[in-house]
Amino acid sequence: MSWFKNLFRSSNGRRSAETPVEQTPAPEAAEVAAPAPVVEAAPAERAAGLPRIAIVTGSTRPGRVNGSVAEWVLAQTEGRTDAEFELVDIADFNLPLLDEPAPAMYQSYQNEHTEAWSGKIAGFDGFIFVASEYNHTVGPALTNALSFLNVEFNNKAAGIVSYGSMGGVRSAEHLRNVLAELQIAVVRNQVMFSLFTDFENFADFKPTEQNAGTLTPMVDQLVPWAKGFTTIRTELLAVSA
Ligand SMILES: Cc1cc2nc3c(=O)[nH]c(=O)nc-3n(C[C@H](O)[C@H](O)[C@H](O)COP(=O)(O)O)c2cc1C
Repeated sequence: MSWFKNLFRSSNGRRSAETPVEQTPAPEAAEVAAPAPVVEAAPAERAAGLPRIAIVTGSTRPGRVNGSVAEWVLAQTEGRTDAEFELVDIADFNLPLLDEPAPAMYQSYQNEHTEAWSGKIAGFDGFIFVASEYNHTVGPALTNALSFLNVEFNNKAAGIVSYGSMGGVRSAEHLRNVLAELQIAVVRNQVMFSLFTDFENFADFKPTEQNAGTLTPMVDQLVPWAKGFTTIRTELLAVSA
């Protein structure tokens, strides 16, 4: 195990929550020496069972449309027997603007809201991110929520459901870059809803049949990827032991 991994690791193997902030290496060191983190999330024993997929909301704006899109996604997955799906609303975690002193990859969390968010995300094998588009990029609430964690997302799979005036495509493309840094593999198939044609009055979600029909192919691709990554995490655990 490298000095880098030891730096923030406690005797039980988990990065210590008590790690003094002054031990945090300079950001440039973290950038250069970014370790392959030990994967602690999604235990190997789940490899025998169904993959667990979180449908993660991407906006906390009062009056958001995001919640109705996320609930629709969840409803569409009902009846599937190849995975378990759960709606995870970032609004429930009351995350402030990122307030953790240490980079997320050390998991030396100082705040209860981060521990709660970490505990929730760690249990999933894959994600469907419901992404709004603000200023041609990912909405700030989702970017912020993603920044709180790192290891909990590593070596997992995701799909994107985006919406906006142009289907949220710019948000989705930017989100792919962010997720790549979190070591999340994003499936090709993508779902894009237009504020003009899939929402009445830009507010009430009423997806067209054509766009609604793109969800199932995305999930069909995501589930095997999410399942496959349980094997990858198990092998990485063995390498890092
Ligand atoms: C500050 C701001 C910037 C926005 N920028 C874009 C944009 O660049 N592209 C776009 O398609 N929609 C844009 N919109 C419209 C949002 O996509 C739309 O309001 C959507 O409902 C936001 O998602 P939410 O209701 O779930 O928060 C913007 C809205 C706001 C408030």
